[in-house]
Amino acid sequence: MRMLPEDLHPPVWVLRMGHRPERDKRVTTHVALLSRAFGARGIDIDRRDEKLEGGIRSVVERFGGDFTVRSGVNPRKAIKGFDGKIVHLTMYGEPLKWRIDEIRENERILVVVGAEKVPGWVYKEADYNISITQQPHSEVSSLGVFLHHLYDGKEDELSFPGAKEVILPEGSGKRVIQISSPPLKNLEKRRGWLPTMDEALRILVDLGVPPQVIRHTIAVHDFAREICDRCESSEINCDLLLMGALLHDVGRAKTHGIEHGIKGAELLKKIGVDERLQRIAERHLGAGIKKEEAKRLGLPPQDYIPESIEEKLVAHLDNMIDDFRRVPLSHFVNRMEKIGLIDVGERALKLQEELERRLKVKFDDFL
Ligand SMILES: [Fe+2]
Repeated sequence: MRMLPEDLHPPVWVLRMGHRPERDKRVTTHVALLSRAFGARGIDIDRRDEKLEGGIRSVVERFGGDFTVRSGVNPRKAIKGFDGKIVHLTMYGEPLKWRIDEIRENERILVVVGAEKVPGWVYKEADYNISITQQPHSEVSSLGVFLHHLYDGKEDELSFPGAKEVILPEGSGKRVIQISSPPLKNLEKRRGWLPTMDEALRILVDLGVPPQVIRHTIAVHDFAREICDRCESSEINCDLLLMGALLHDVGRAKTHGIEHGIKGAELLKKIGVDERLQRIAERHLGAGIKKEEAKRLGLPPQDYIPESIEEKLVAHLDNMIDDFRRVPLSHFVNRMEKIGLIDVGERALKLQEELERRLKVKFDDFL
């Protein structure tokens, strides 16, 4: 489900004290990057450091979201003028466990992290002096542990709309996608538009589809491209098929449940894209869902059976991709059998037979 830093409660801002531009650039940069990645809304730094500010802003520009950074902020004014509670992280404070539930109840939080020596008045002004162990370590680790607990580990699910670079999870090596389209809210919305690949990626990222799902949809897209390249059939509208492949799981920005197909169609309708893409999303589960099954599954009772060749292909290729690896259809069929959905597996096999006959291909040749 899409989760933005703005969705996390309570909102947190960070105040970094004791920054020395000539010595602490790296540590303060890490405090700022960690704050952003773990859901804080912005950071104030006590000493003026334009270079550091610029560095953080360029990260926000590249990786998305609207984290704010200001330097040269008077800490006394920032603390006294803050409309919320002050949490000071220090090894001399109380263990986090004693106070975390109470801290979560607040409306707004300013977390103060210092360098070596924090003046005594900060301890007095703070509503909470919290220690992450009573051992010396780093303000970066303290802040990370604090935000991780405060938000129950949700940092992994955060979306950063507007990102120009998105890192996809990968077991080895690096996989990064670059997106040059403007943020979704600024994308020109012509009714019934067919997005380009770059725009489709922008839609996925800005709607908050998790990176691992984007990885999956790119795998379905790449599979579809190979089919288009090798297939002589002029039956397929390849532009439509490729965009359908990329966008079929857009509903997983809302839910990973069986209703993600319908949710995806709703999201695409709102964006005003070509209706054929909405239908691809709505009908991509298994080899389609019949009205009676839909009723049983608690979905709005209607047929969700893929009809067009593009709808059929996306459903089928999706069945042949486990996460992002291509597998023979038998994997899907066996998986369905194990959970008692024998007819779903049979329908998927029939769909494969039909597509192989119509397109004169053998899908196993693409494994
Ligand atoms: Fe799906």
